[in-house]
Amino acid sequence: MAATHGATLETATASHLVDMEAFFCGPRSDDDAGLAACRWLEEGKILYFAQSPFPLPPGDVEVLLRQRQSDHRWHKNIAYRPLQDRLTGFDAKHSDAARMHEIMRSFSRRLLDYTATLLPAYARVWRLDYASFRPLEEQGRQLRLQARNDLVHVDSFPKRPTHGDRILRIFTNINPHAERHWITSDPLDVLAQQMGREFAQHLAPPAGPALWRRWAARAGLPLRPYSAYDETMRGIHRRMKESALFQQSCRKNHSHFPPGSAWLVFTDAVPHAVVSGQYALEQTVIVPRAAMLLPERSPAAVLERLATPPQQRRAA
Ligand code: SIN
Ligand code: FE
Repeated sequence: MAATHGATLETATASHLVDMEAFFCGPRSDDDAGLAACRWLEEGKILYFAQSPFPLPPGDVEVLLRQRQSDHRWHKNIAYRPLQDRLTGFDAKHSDAARMHEIMRSFSRRLLDYTATLLPAYARVWRLDYASFRPLEEQGRQLRLQARNDLVHVDSFPKRPTHGDRILRIFTNINPHAERHWITSDPLDVLAQQMGREFAQHLAPPAGPALWRRWAARAGLPLRPYSAYDETMRGIHRRMKESALFQQSCRKNHSHFPPGSAWLVFTDAVPHAVVSGQYALEQTVIVPRAAMLLPERSPAAVLERLATPPQQRRAA
């Protein structure tokens, strides 16, 4: 695992990943740690724990591991909605259904409690999104292009617009035998700077409402409010996956997350792909853009800069 050891601010920024256990061994106050963690996340780093700080009881892991890949009772993933206390993507008649619900509820609560102590500045204002269980082997998974997770992409949810607020995801690998292998690339603000005009032309051309949205609006279907930000982010997600050039030429940092580890990352800004791995759990929270310590690095600021002509930028 390529990690930042004895992490001070300077050494940690040299790596794509911050070893939080090493950081916690050093001298620091809780306030400093919380702020440093937010900053690292906003700079596009992965916060990594070799041992998850919110481990599951062994009995819960056993139940999760026996949900076999050959069993097609779920959709892409099994999801848990903490706000409605609802489990989806799992057959309600399955003998494990009640237990699965209980396991996902308690996983989500313990993870959120821990993350709230790590990142209090975000926890004061974040909105809870879904948790998910990913029981299928990712290597060689047959999915349509836009659903593939083995292609490098930024996250943008087709049905849950964020209007510029941030997608923070917290993962844990509960597979007792195998790593989860990720590739990540430079965050959007760095990519935009490196690629210059190419970024706008190739990955983020100005976006109007998607075709399906125009049809749905014409048909009078009720829709969540349209947001230019979300349409553009969907476009970047799609173009990254469709572009063989981007997939080939983007910088690739490899992370090999071992059994029992956990990691946090802003997946709306950090392009990522899962190469292999089976049995991961994840919780998403939406952090308001206003809570960012480095607001100029967030995807919304990157898109605003693209939309501002250079002469106006110089005058600002
Ligand atoms: C993703 O692309 O968001 C999924 C990553 C994973 O399941 O490890
Ligand atoms: Fe993703």
